[in-house]
Order: sequence, then C-alpha cells, then structure tokens
Amino acid sequence: MAITDDIKSKKNDARCEGWPSYQDVLDNDSKEAPFQLRAESAPFIGDDGIPVDHYISEDYFKKEAAKMWPKVWQMACREEEIPNVGDYIIYEVVGKSLIVTRTAPNKFKALHNVCLHRGRKLVTEDGSQTEFRCPYHGFTWKNNGAIKEIPCQWDFKHLQGKRITLPSAKVETWGGFIFINMDENAKPLKDTLGIMPEHFDERWRPQDRYISAHVGKIVPANWKAVAEAFMESYHVIDTHPQIMPYMGDANSQYDIFSDTITRQITASGIQSPHLGQGAMNEQMILDSMMATNGRFGDPTATLQVPEGQKARAYMADIARQANQHQDGHDYSDKSDAEMLDALLYNIFPNLSVWAGYGANIVYRWRPNGMDVNSGLMEVYQLKLVPKGQPRPAPAEYIFLEEDQGWDVALGNLGLVLEQDQSNLPHVQSGMIASETGVVELGNYQEMRLRQMHNMIDKYIDA
Ligand code: FES
Ligand SMILES: [Fe+2]
Repeated sequence: MAITDDIKSKKNDARCEGWPSYQDVLDNDSKEAPFQLRAESAPFIGDDGIPVDHYISEDYFKKEAAKMWPKVWQMACREEEIPNVGDYIIYEVVGKSLIVTRTAPNKFKALHNVCLHRGRKLVTEDGSQTEFRCPYHGFTWKNNGAIKEIPCQWDFKHLQGKRITLPSAKVETWGGFIFINMDENAKPLKDTLGIMPEHFDERWRPQDRYISAHVGKIVPANWKAVAEAFMESYHVIDTHPQIMPYMGDANSQYDIFSDTITRQITASGIQSPHLGQGAMNEQMILDSMMATNGRFGDPTATLQVPEGQKARAYMADIARQANQHQDGHDYSDKSDAEMLDALLYNIFPNLSVWAGYGANIVYRWRPNGMDVNSGLMEVYQLKLVPKGQPRPAPAEYIFLEEDQGWDVALGNLGLVLEQDQSNLPHVQSGMIASETGVVELGNYQEMRLRQMHNMIDKYIDA
C-alpha cells in the first residue's frame, strides 16, 4: 500500500476523548520525563483493510521470504551469547541458515551455514570452534570463510577463490545486539535504527544489560499476527482485563518515527478509560498493581498510598527502591514513566525493545521455517549489570514445548503472555475462514501494524 499524496494530506487525530493523553500524564508526574518520552509523531498512513493473504497465503509468504527477509537487518543474537573468540550461534530464518561467530575480541562474522561441496549444513548446534569441518566428506573452512582443507584436493583443482569461499552476510552491532543482513548492498544498520541510539544509548543503555531470561516458543499463527499481539494496547480491554485498574490502555501514545522505527507507550498506575470516570481510587489502583503486576515484590504485601499522593508516583518510588536494592544503581532522578510504563520501540521487521528501567523485555518474531501458519516468538529479559560487578553469565535459553505455558519460564509476565497467545491460533484459523478477506485496523492505536504491512509491501513491490 503506497502512501499517496491524498493519504499524506490527512491528519491522524483520532484520540480517546475526555481522558488525559500520555503527555498530560507526564505533565503531572513527580519527576520530569526525558526528551525521548516527550517526542510525538503520528502521521496518517492510510485506512484500507489489510488483506488476510498477508497472513495466510503461501504465495505472499514466499514473496516475503524471497524479497523481504534477505534484505533487512535482523537481530541474530546478543554479543554476550557468543562471549569468546570462536563461539557461534546458528541464526535461521525462512530456510536460510547463518553461523554468527566471534572471530576476534570485537569482531563478528556471519557465514552461510551450507557446505559448498554437496550442500550439507556445516553445523547443526551452537558451539565454539574457529574452523568448520563438514561432517560429510570433510571440506573445512576457517571462520573468515576461507577454505582450509579439501580431502582429495587432487579431485577439486577446479575450485578456487570466491567459488570456494563461504558466502557471508553483513554484520553490525548496536546496544549489545548483533544484527545481520544477507544483502551485500544493504544500507548501514544506522539507517534502520534511526532514533534508537539517540533515545537509548545514554539513558536506558541496552549495551550495559545482560540476559536475565531468554525463552522461545512456536506459536500457531503467522509471524506477523504474533508480532501484532504486542504492537498495541487496544487489546487490554478483552485480553488482559485484570490490568485495566492500573493501565492507561485507550490513552496510550503511538508513534511512527521513521520507516523502520515505531513506538507505543502505555502509562501504568492510572486507571483505564474503559472503566469510566472515577471508577478507581488511588488505593484501589495500588492494590491491583501489587496483586497482578509481580514487579514490586511480595504480591500479598499491603501498601498504603500516602495521604495526598497518587498511586503512580508512589509506585514509581517503590520501583526505584526495589531496583536500587537489586542492582545498586541510583534511580533517584529517573522519571515515574521510566520506572513504570510500558515503553515499546519496534525495529522493522521483527524486533521490539522495551525502554525504561525494569527488567527490559525484548521480543523477536520470525516465521517458523517456511510455515506461513506458525511463528517463533522469543522473549529476552535484559537487566542492568549490577553496579561495580562483572557482567553475569546470560541465562540459558528455554525453548517451551507446545503444552508448556510462558509462565513456566517467566512467572507473572508469562501469565500475561499466555493471555496474548490464547488468541493467536484463533486469529490464524479465523483469517483462513474470513468472508471479507480483509482485517480492519484502528487509525491511531493500530497504526504501527499498518506501518509494518506498508513496509513489507514496499520490499515485495520493489
Ligand atoms: S557435503 Fe560437505 S564435504 Fe561433502
Ligand atoms: Fe498483551
């Protein structure tokens, strides 16, 4: 869907009327929010229905696989997942397979994981080695991609130079993440990242965080449908009603900063507009947060909002103290918003990085192999390295079986993810059953979804 002049001329001014905007919430906070959270950008980008083909058609999926995935920057892993020279992980997407490896203390390489002899995958498990010997006939490559050995070399005199060098993808890093791009003509990663370094590097510091949890699961829905379950707060009303007492869901802020960077911000510690004016007092908001959020220590503890204070300001203080107690950093000057709110930035096509000062979540979504109807969803949790201490070892990757809930690995957060996931098989089968052949989106709350579709179409149509 191209953005025509007609679309450009329109305003995206649909908002939840009669309730404070997210910026109004910030105006009344106990501490000044940083410039990042004051930024706003909500262009109108169209209002056509999205064809269900985008989610269910083999043909559309193949176009994504051929024209989008090989051309976009994708987060392959965190640097800490391959801490030593020689360590490597296998990153796979739509049938492609890359060995992402550390070749020197601060250098990385992404080699296509396919033997140039008769096509066996060179490695099938993550590991550590500085050369790769194919288990079939023993062709061996160095980790810079150069051929090292061919058994019975006399039979392969015709193989020389580039023809026998392992192809590689581009590699760049940001914030402790390693990104790959299979397109040798790809523009630099910074073009994709846009405002991300400016917003994150000095303040929320992903580079100074370590993996405190890493969990993955196959979800029976197209990868985009899975991603979209985490790209708006509109669904709180029916999917997570238990958090409405302390979530400003309908008055969330949504932003599109560039082709590739979008954001949503949902305030915590205020009631949902859906509950109606005056439905909750400050103590009720606090009690509800304590009971279901899981971030503020013992859920059965009884806390009292001090006379004249707001639940939001009070809980931000509790979070400051809890964080400082946990990792030794000083949070005294951090804004209420950064201590409490859901601040989700997305990097096109498939990565979401939370900002602020919690155990920041990172979501990554991919197709499950070449299956249009299922996707791999992963959740990383990144915590700041405790003050004055060495970086803790990353938590081990837990891959959940079909019958295992997210809560097995992620506790309270996992229970919320279970609610999100409960819709997805029925979204996929519902789209297959669709009579209209399109899904409809809200102009404001769901504009980040539309932006993703617009971008994929741009790659497909290129
Ligand atoms: S397929 Fe790899 S050495 Fe033969
Ligand atoms: Fe959700």
